[in-house]
Order: sequence, then C-alpha cells, then structure tokens
Amino acid sequence: MKKLIDKLKKERHLEQSEWTDLIEHRTPELADYLFEQAREIRHAHYGHDIYIRGLIEFTNYCRNDCFYCGIQRSNTHICRYRLSEDTILDCCRSGYELGFRTFVLQGGEDAYYTDERMVHLIREIKSLFPDCALTLSIGEKSEDSYRKFYEAGADRYLLRHETFNHEHYSRLHPAELSAAERQNCLWNLKKIGYQVGTGFMVGSPWQTATNLAEDMLFIEKLQPHMVGIGPFIPHHDTIFAGETAGTLELTLFMLGLLRLMLPKVLLPATTALGTIHPHGRELGILAGANVVMPNLSPRDNRKQYALYDNKIATGEEAAEGKEKLVQQMEAIGYHVVTARGDSLMSADHLPK
Ligand code: 5AD
Repeated sequence: MKKLIDKLKKERHLEQSEWTDLIEHRTPELADYLFEQAREIRHAHYGHDIYIRGLIEFTNYCRNDCFYCGIQRSNTHICRYRLSEDTILDCCRSGYELGFRTFVLQGGEDAYYTDERMVHLIREIKSLFPDCALTLSIGEKSEDSYRKFYEAGADRYLLRHETFNHEHYSRLHPAELSAAERQNCLWNLKKIGYQVGTGFMVGSPWQTATNLAEDMLFIEKLQPHMVGIGPFIPHHDTIFAGETAGTLELTLFMLGLLRLMLPKVLLPATTALGTIHPHGRELGILAGANVVMPNLSPRDNRKQYALYDNKIATGEEAAEGKEKLVQQMEAIGYHVVTARGDSLMSADHLPK
C-alpha cells in the first residue's frame, strides 16, 4: 500500500480500484506515512501558514429536505432565524478587526434571500471591505443567479457534491434532488470563474470505499480550488438519528489523500472534524489541511445552525475564539495569517 501512496505523490492520479484498495487496506502505520508526505507537500506550497475564513451562518431557513441535515425543511423542532443585512455587516466589521480577510456567507436555501437581496448584500460587503474575498455557500441556483452574484463581486463558492455516486446520492436526498444537478451547478460555477470549493461527508450512511474512490475521481476531474470534507454526524431530528457517525480516522486519511492528489488545494480542517474529537482540527492540519473557518455569527444564533448534533458552538465571542485558535495552531507549530488566502492553483483566482 505504501507503493500506492508513493505513486499518488508522484503522479497525482490513481485508478478507481487503486483508490478503493488504499482506502480499504489502510492501517495506522500507513496513515502516519501518508500524513508525513502530505505535510511535506503542504509545507512546500503553503509553509506553516494557516488561512482563516470568517463563517457567517446567516439563515437556517431551507427549502430542501436532505435526509442527514438538521436544518432540513421538515424539521419543525428548530427555531428558524435569518440575519438582517446590518447584522451581517456587523459580523464582517468585527471579523475584519480580528484579521479576517475572507468572509463566508453560508445559509440554507432561503427564499427570503432573493437574487436582488443577495446582490445588494454582496455589493455592500465588497465596497466596505475591498481587500477581502467573499465566499458564498447558499446551495443550488441557476447559472444566471450564480453569474449575477459573481458580477456583484462574489469571489468564491462552496458547494459540496456530498457524494458522487448517483444511487448513493439518492439514498441521502429526496427525489427532487439529484447528483447530476448538484454536479452541474459545480461545473457552472467553474465556468463563470469562481474559485470553487466542493467536498463530501465521510462515513455517511451506506457509503462504501468505492464511493469514496468515485469522489476522488470526480474531484480530480473538477480540479476545485478547495475541498471541504468532514465526518457525517447524526442529527437527532432526522431519519438518520440512529446511524453511526463517520470516524476521525477515515476523515484524516481522506484529507491526506486529497493533499497528495491536489498539492495546492485549500483544505479546511472543518467544524465537523472539531466536533467528533477535541483536537480534531489540529489533527486535520497535521494530516495536510491548511484552512480553518471559525464562526463569526452572533453567539445566540450559532446553536440554531445545527446541521448535526453537538456542533461546536462555543459561547465565546469571535475575538476569544480567534485567540484560542491562534494558540491551538501555535502549539502544533503553525501560524494563523491575516490574508485573503487565495488558492495557488491557477492565475484566474487573483483579486479582480
Ligand atoms: N453531518 C455532517 N455534515 C453535515 N452536513 C450537513 N448535515 C451534516 C451532518 N449531519 C454538511 C453537508 C453540507 C455542509 C454545509 O454541511 O456536507 O454541504
């Protein structure tokens, strides 16, 4: 199996059966070897810098009913909220003071936030913080809408493909959602010129090593600037309440593989990783990740944006949270930097 890791490092490509083999036959020793290689590559391109993104979860209303997600529309047990434009701008202001140069607007697919309202918000943020990158993560939209947001100034878009395999996708989503449409959105985003982030859940119900191999092949084809992965974690109000969560171990392994396949990719150590293990995010960094996305949402709203159970929604202010993160990263030899943190993957990501 070590040979496959060496091959991946050299050629940045494996066949589907090789991916499956590697994932199925991984061992702790193999993982250590993988993480060493992943760190070497990551240090060559990004040094020991950690990029931070200020995450603003601005609405938990959602028209979709993804079976795994706590904010699915049929969950009547949660308290719905949406932040006003003024509140969002306040979040950006305090984030800017703290050194954030990327803001991520993430939300459910909320009809209140029409294209017009989004365009207004994007323009406001970009005119108040021209040196910042703005990332959207608001789900599936028409190509036309994506284009309007891009023209208004949005730089990046995050849309996880969740799982590439169509049959697996349909077991995790209601019939009106499809893997094909999800993937089509990603190709549209790339075509328009966004820096694109995709990703998948690790250990979602019925996922096989072959499914993960398919995810790797899809990502290789898409060549995204960023890949966000995290363990599936059950939410008590969903039909997956009784399912087992994805593991830290497999998530870290997949992070290492992603770093080898796409050396310059931006790889976040995600909130879900930090949720299943107290040092999940640090371990993610040591497996090859180089991005962390702390929460800038108002404290009171954070627990309402519960995609899964026990999501870390600490009661601390953004400032305390950032300070703690800086210390955690310093403790493992990494430095949080004040920068937009663009991907090195191609020249078309440079500030407009
Ligand atoms: N466990 C882990 N991740 C989840 N997401 C949604 N629900 C869950 C869950 N139960 C992830 C999805 C989505 C992202 C915003 O959060 O991958 O794209």
